[in-house]
This record gives sequence, C-alpha cells and structure tokens, in this order.
Amino acid sequence: QTVINLGKLHSFRKRLNSSVSTCRCLLVRKYSDVPRKFISFEEVAAQRRAQARRSLVVQVNSESSFKELYGYCSEYSDIKGVHHYNNSSGEHFMLIEFASEENLKDVLKTCSAHQKDVDVMSLQSPFLWFRATQGKREKYTTPDTSLAITDGNAAVNEDKLFEGLTTCASVSDQIQMLYDQTVLNDVGVRLRYMVARQLEVIFASLYSNIAIRPFGSSVNGFGKMGCDLDLVLTNVLPEEMSDPQKRLVYHEKKCEGGRNPWQRHMELVAELLELRVPGAGRVTRILNARVPIVKYTHEFTDVECDLCYNNMSGVYMSELLWLFGSLDPRVRPLCFVVRRWAHTAGLTSPHPGRWITNFPLTLMVLFFLQQTTKEGAVLPPLKYLVQRAGKEDVRIAEDNLNCTFLRDMNKLPPDTYSQNTASLETLLVQFFEFYAQFDFQDKAISINEGTAVRKPNGLPLYIVNPLEQTLNVSRNVSYEECERIRMEVRNAAWQLETAMEEKTDDWGLLCLIERKTSRGLKKLLRVGNSQRLVSVKDLFKDDDSVPGENELKSKLE
Ligand code: CTP
Ligand code: MG
Repeated sequence: QTVINLGKLHSFRKRLNSSVSTCRCLLVRKYSDVPRKFISFEEVAAQRRAQARRSLVVQVNSESSFKELYGYCSEYSDIKGVHHYNNSSGEHFMLIEFASEENLKDVLKTCSAHQKDVDVMSLQSPFLWFRATQGKREKYTTPDTSLAITDGNAAVNEDKLFEGLTTCASVSDQIQMLYDQTVLNDVGVRLRYMVARQLEVIFASLYSNIAIRPFGSSVNGFGKMGCDLDLVLTNVLPEEMSDPQKRLVYHEKKCEGGRNPWQRHMELVAELLELRVPGAGRVTRILNARVPIVKYTHEFTDVECDLCYNNMSGVYMSELLWLFGSLDPRVRPLCFVVRRWAHTAGLTSPHPGRWITNFPLTLMVLFFLQQTTKEGAVLPPLKYLVQRAGKEDVRIAEDNLNCTFLRDMNKLPPDTYSQNTASLETLLVQFFEFYAQFDFQDKAISINEGTAVRKPNGLPLYIVNPLEQTLNVSRNVSYEECERIRMEVRNAAWQLETAMEEKTDDWGLLCLIERKTSRGLKKLLRVGNSQRLVSVKDLFKDDDSVPGENELKSKLE
C-alpha cells in the first residue's frame, strides 16, 4: 500500500494533462516497489538475442553425451543451462547457454575445423558437433543434478493431446490445454533465435551493421510448436557511424544496373545460404514479389525459414500482436483454438492461395475481442494505444510507415483492463456467433477502430492492415472462400452448442478440431475442392501413417 500525497497527484495531473486514475497509476509505480506487470516486446527480444549470442548448438551422439559435453565445455567456461532436442532425422543436439558472451568466446577458441577441400569449407557458426574421443575416455567433472536436460523441439503428441482433451472438465479447460500443450516452448524460441544468430555471424563480415530478427508467429505469442520462422535482415548504420564530424569516411559501393539493389543483395544472400551456412538446405528464391523472400530449411533445427530484407513493419506488426496477446490471458488461447479450428475446417492451408491465413485470422479474433458486450470489451481498439504513445514509442518503418503506438503496457491506466470476465468457452461461442452475423458484404474489420467500418471496395473479405490502413490484409481471399468462412462459423456455433449438451466421443472442442491423421484427411476430401487436394499432402508431414494412406499419397503425387 503506497500513500500518495494528494498535492503531488494533482500537480502531476496538471503537468501531464491526464486523468486522475492514469496519474495515480503512474505515481504508484514511481513511488512504490510495485513490480512491473508487463515486459515489453523489445525487452523480450533483446533478452532472447543476448541469450542466443552466448549459446551454441552442438550435435552429439546421443542423449547420454550430455555429461561428457558438459564436462568438456565447463573446463573452459561457465555453463548456465543445457537443453536437449532431436531433429526429424533422429539426430541429437544440445543447446548450451553459457554464462556470458565472453565465456562463449573462450569455448570457441578451443574449436577445431574440417577443411578437406573447397566443397567442404568449415566456418564459424554457432552450430557445431562433438567429436568422439579417440582412445581412452577422459574424465570430466560431471554436472550437479540441478542442470536438468529438458526435452526440446519435439512435435506435440496428438494422441496424448486428444486423450487429455477428452478428460477435461469444461470446454474452457480444453481450450487452455490446447494452448498450453501446443504453444511454441522455450527451446523452440531459443532455437529460432539461434537460426537468426547463425546468419548474423556468417554475414557479419559482408554487412557490418547487420541484424537478423525473427518476426511473425515465432515471436508474436501466437506461434505453435513447429511453426515457420520469419526473419528480417536489416543493415542500418549506427548513429556514431553517421557522425559528419568524423574525417575518415569509408568508400561506398553503389549497386549498378538499375534493378532493385536489395533484390540483388537477396540473390547474394541466397547464394551464401547455399555455400556458407551449415544446416541450410532447399534454398528457394522468390525475388520478384513486393517483398523479396528467400526460403530455406534449417535442417539442424527442422525450422522452415522465410528471410526478407528491411521489412521492419512486419516486426512492428508482431510487436502489436504480442502486446494485444499480453493484455489479457484469454487472447492467446482463443486465437490458438480458432487457428486450429480453421485448419481442421480446411479454411487455412500451409500453401498460399485464395484462402485466409493465420495472420488475418488472428486479427479477426482480436477484432471480436474489441466488441463491447454487456460486460464490456476484452481488448481496447488500437487507436487507444496510438493515442497514448509517447516520444519513446515513435517508430518509422520502411516507406515512411508510421508504426507508433504505446509499447509499455505498464503505462496503461488500470481502467483499461476489461471488466469482462467471460470464460474461454463463452468467448469461443460468441466468436462464432459474431462472425455468423457479421456483414461481410458491406463492412470491413478494423482493429484500429475496434468497430466495423465501411468497405472501401468490393473485395469479398476486407481486414484493414493495422499499420497501413489503406491496405487489406485479406485481399487474396476469393468470394467462395469468404462464403466458406461464413458457412463454417455458422456450423461451428451450432456444432459446439450440440457437442456441449451431449457428452459423446467428440465432446466439446473435439468436434471442432481433429487429429492430423486420417480423420483430417477424410474431412479435407469431403470438401472436394481440387485446390485443397494439394494441401492434403501436407497432412502427411507430421502424420502417423495409417493403412491405405500411402496409396492415396502416391496417387495425389
Ligand atoms: N504480416 C504483415 N502483413 C501481412 C502479412 C503478414 O505485416 N499482410 C506480418 C505479420 O507480422 C505476420 C508476419 O508478417 O505475423 C508473418 O506472416 P505469416 O508467416 O503469414 O503469419 P504468422 O503470423 O507468422 O503465422 P504462421 O504461424 O501461419 O506463419
Ligand atoms: Mg510465419
């Protein structure tokens, strides 16, 4: 309990020209030891990047190599933690976090390399392997038991998940369980930052101020285990290097030839990925798109990566989603269940096309949560966060795009937090009902306003891009796909209501989501849409094979 002097409160209020409750909240924070409730996105990203700078991923023979590897490394340096994981080829890896970046450098000094010929050029990268000892085994000090090996990057066991969901007491518990068991875990996040770090290390000699940042679902709080990794490469001069007082200036190299210079740099990056990045495979160049992308598979971590250049608006968009997700603990679980339902209903597909994707679907959930019900809205509109932004929140992305909004949620007055205490189950039913009645014909979805706005054109689905409001993030969605969304939300509302009354096998959430096995396949085949048959192949990716599926798979191929 902090007693605040009333005089202080009112002079503070005058200075800030703000409401009493905002000031009270700020003063309480200023004069008391109230712990900060929120950590900002930038703080989290900075912590994760620092963690990656002092970490290494070492391929080992088996899980039991832990003690030996730990003993070997701890001779040179202090270890903070070790995590074990397998990739899909069954290879074993240990992610080691050292106590400091200096500690890691000490270990790197002891590394050796292979250089047979130019085809197999070794290079410094945070991905290494642990050579077996020749001859007699050395004795190392073994770790104390407090350093547990945690299981890492393994895909969620769908059978176990479904077993758990069947035994839940309520639909709300089912939604929470689905979220808890499928959300990207700590090792998944660490590995994604390691993949980014690897490129930074390797490209550093060519681009001196390079930064590679993860964005998208890997960092926005809506990523599930196994999600893709979106990466953005930036090359911005630090302030001290732009000082006009400095007399010695580097000669520059102009990119001649009239083509978009960054398209050419991305070509080079793709070449480097093929020639110089251990673990990078299946490099694909998509360079004529509005945002040129290089795709690749990171085989040591099983992560599919999309690398683009200077797309800072994508990072700010991830920050925005992250902030909304951290404002209320129901936001992320609700988005997870909606994304999973949409996948089961065949509304989304891993392939690009005329259908909706996870990102606009997430905006639909946020928009629904901004609607004022009897109990009030769960989330405020984005304009509320924009109005409260300070100087420290100003961010200008590429093409002069203004991405300014309040970053530190600790500054929000307490009355921002919703009085709405509806359960996840109620919110899910309301989500389906809301979109079953939504006027897709005339209205656009805008999380900036938090209310439906008039559609500026006749595109079937209009979801305003929150950071570039003249754009529609769902412009690719066809009339047929929009109709399918309308039909599926109506079905879901009805199915969920029935499945809550009758306690059958498909009880509660189970009627809306299916295992990614033959049941999912059958459902997609029922849709009977020829384009969707392409995506059926994807069902086999993490599938436990069942009789008959392989024949079907070969037919599809
Ligand atoms: N993005 C954007 N504008 C769009 C599409 C995407 O700003 N029209 C940004 C968003 O920050 C999004 C990120 O790019 O999160 C990555 O897009 P995408 O990979 O399609 O979505 P994810 O959120 O990463 O979801 P998924 O798990 O399906 O990859
Ligand atoms: Mg993504």
